[in-house]
Amino acid sequence: MNYFKEDKQSAYDAKTEAQRIAFAPVTFQASRILRDAGILELVQKSRAMGMTLDEVAAKIKLPRYGIKVLLESGLGIGLFCLNDERFTLTKLGYFMLRDEMTRVNMDVVQDICYRGLFDLDQSIEQGKPVGLKTLGDWKTFYEGLSSVTPKAQASWLAFDHYYSDAAFPAALKLVFADNPKRLLDVGGNTGKWAVQCAKFNPDVQITIADLEKQLVFARETIRQNNLENRVNFHATNLLDESLPLPAGHDAIWMSQFLDCFSEAEIVSILRRAAAALAPGGTLYILELFWDRQPNATAAFCLQQISLYFTCIANGNSQMYHSSDLLRAIAESGLKVVEDRDEVGLYHTLLKCRKA
Ligand SMILES: C[S@@+](CC[C@H](N)C(=O)[O-])C[C@H]1O[C@@H](n2cnc3c(N)ncnc32)[C@H](O)[C@@H]1O
Repeated sequence: MNYFKEDKQSAYDAKTEAQRIAFAPVTFQASRILRDAGILELVQKSRAMGMTLDEVAAKIKLPRYGIKVLLESGLGIGLFCLNDERFTLTKLGYFMLRDEMTRVNMDVVQDICYRGLFDLDQSIEQGKPVGLKTLGDWKTFYEGLSSVTPKAQASWLAFDHYYSDAAFPAALKLVFADNPKRLLDVGGNTGKWAVQCAKFNPDVQITIADLEKQLVFARETIRQNNLENRVNFHATNLLDESLPLPAGHDAIWMSQFLDCFSEAEIVSILRRAAAALAPGGTLYILELFWDRQPNATAAFCLQQISLYFTCIANGNSQMYHSSDLLRAIAESGLKVVEDRDEVGLYHTLLKCRKA
C-alpha cells in the first residue's frame, strides 16, 4: 500500500502538525511523565467526574508546580479535557495509558533512543551509530544488548517481542505445514521462537544461531523449558563474512533479523543461508515492511524505527521497503516461492528456495 501518494492536509492542518513536530520532544517527555508518575491513571479513575489540580496534587508525590505544568501541557497535547477546573481523560489519554503498542514504542524511544538521537545528524554523516555511546562502548547495539541497564534491556526486549510474538502463532502453522525436521533459527535472541517450535512439533531439532553474548539468554530460556535435548546453539557473528552457517537444515528461520543489516550484508548472509540449506530446504524470512502495512500509522512507526538503526543499532540498516529485500534475495541466488502479508497483523512471510 502506498499511503504517501498525495498531500491531503489543509494548510491549516499542516501548520498545526508542524508545531506538534517542533515540540515533539517536549510533548513526548510530558506524556511519558504523566504516564509514569501515575497522573493519567489517577485521572482515568476519576472518570467523568474528573479532578482539580489540587485533588491531583494531594495524591501524587510531585511538587504542585510540576503537576500544574504537566497537566496544562497535557491539555494542549489532547490528553485531558478541562471543564469547571476539572481534568478528565480523553481517548488519547486513555491510549497513552493503556495501549500496549504505544507503551512499548515510548519505552524503547525513552530508554534506548532518546539521548542518542541528539547525534542523528552525525550518525547519518558518518554511517555509524554515533548515538550508541549513550548506552555503552560497542560497535553495534547487539554486541551490547546483554550489558545495557536492566531497564533499557527490558524495554528493548518488550519492544522486540511485542511485534514478533504477534506473528509467531500464524507463522508456526505455515512453517510446520512443510514438516521440517532440522530448523536453524538465525538471530534467535531469547529463544522464544525455538521454544514455540519445539512445543508445536515433537520431532523438530532446532539450532539457535546468534552472537555468543546473546546466547546466554537463549540458553537460559531453553534450560527453563527443559528443551536441552531438542535445541542446540551456534555462536557466530554474521558480520564476519568468512563464517558460514551450520549446514544441513531443511528450514532456516530469520525473524526480524535482516533489518539489523545493510543491503550488502544481507546479500552476504543470504548467500550463506542458501549454502546451509539441505536439498529442497526452505528459508523463511519474517519481516515488517513499511510498504506492506494495513494502515498508514503502522507504516509511520516502521519508518521512524529505521532511525533507531541509523543512530543506535548499527548505522547502516533500516526497516525496509519490500522491494529492497526482494532485490537482495534475488542477488543471493534464492527465489521467493511464497510471499504472504498480514501474518499476525503486520508481518510478511517470504518462503525462499535456492534458485
Ligand atoms: C531484532 S532481534 C530479532 C529476534 C528474534 N528473531 C525475534 O523475531 O524476536 C535480532 C537478533 O539478531 C541478533 N544479531 C544481531 N547482529 C548479529 C550478528 N552480527 N550476528 C549474529 N546475530 C546477530 C541479535 O543478537 C538479536 O538476537
